[in-house]
Amino acid sequence: MTIALVTDIPELTAAAATLAQAYGMPNELPENATEHEFYLELTLDGLELVWHSRPDLQPLQLSFTHGPQAWRQQQGGGRQEAVVRALGIAKGFRPTVLDATAGLGRDGMMLAHAGCKVYLLERHPAVHALLDQAVVHAQQDERIGAWVKERVTVLPRGSLIDTEVLSAAFQDLKPAAIYLDPMFPERGKAAAVKKDMQMLQALVGGDSDADRLLPAALALATHRVVVKRPAAAPFLSGQKPSSQITTKKHRFDVYVKHAYS
Ligand SMILES: C[S@@+](CC[C@H](N)C(=O)[O-])C[C@H]1O[C@@H](n2cnc3c(N)ncnc32)[C@H](O)[C@@H]1O
Repeated sequence: MTIALVTDIPELTAAAATLAQAYGMPNELPENATEHEFYLELTLDGLELVWHSRPDLQPLQLSFTHGPQAWRQQQGGGRQEAVVRALGIAKGFRPTVLDATAGLGRDGMMLAHAGCKVYLLERHPAVHALLDQAVVHAQQDERIGAWVKERVTVLPRGSLIDTEVLSAAFQDLKPAAIYLDPMFPERGKAAAVKKDMQMLQALVGGDSDADRLLPAALALATHRVVVKRPAAAPFLSGQKPSSQITTKKHRFDVYVKHAYS
């Protein structure tokens, strides 16, 4: 699916062209615009993802400085968050984490907020562009910019299971932990799924190759791999974890290679 990056604000024309080039996207919609089910639009508020056939859904804006994500970091982001506990953050110890299915970056930012150095890896062009721009903006923010700059790196678009990229780009990272949260095809009834997640699901699909991520992650992580799954989902790759942390809706399957100490 081709995703264009456009703007209809004259002052932003040059900026949109620069971003489209940087992310390898066309800078205009095709004549038959419905061919592009989704497109990115640069507005005065930043980059937005628009879903053509669902005008009932607000365009998806990704921000770590305003809205629900900023709220989540203010309220939580501490050691009580299940994702933070699953990654094994302990007093005085913060693993370096490769978030290899970074998506909208919510979990990754939570881990960074809790003190981990986090590398965000995402393969979908539009999701990668939204995430990259949201992190760029967060790095410039007065309140959170300092820790985001120090701890959060968005990697070039790619995937852990793209073996050509793997050897070149990731071997040097040597992450202590790898975090995986691939799409699960049946995340629940559409109405029960948050609107931004509905949009992400329609855009990205079901990540049907997700089982391949676990062996790749176990080969690369030095200490542990954590997989987020819906509560009733089977284990990724059919592989039993060393331990689990459960919340109402989710399960964090923890695969320990070596203890951190
Ligand atoms: C459920 S979302 C992740 C949500 C994320 N944890 C968050 O907090 O926003 C899954 C994301 O992983 C990405 N993804 C799935 N498989 C991938 C792979 N092999 N390499 C890179 N990204 C992948 C998808 O494109 C999608 O954006």
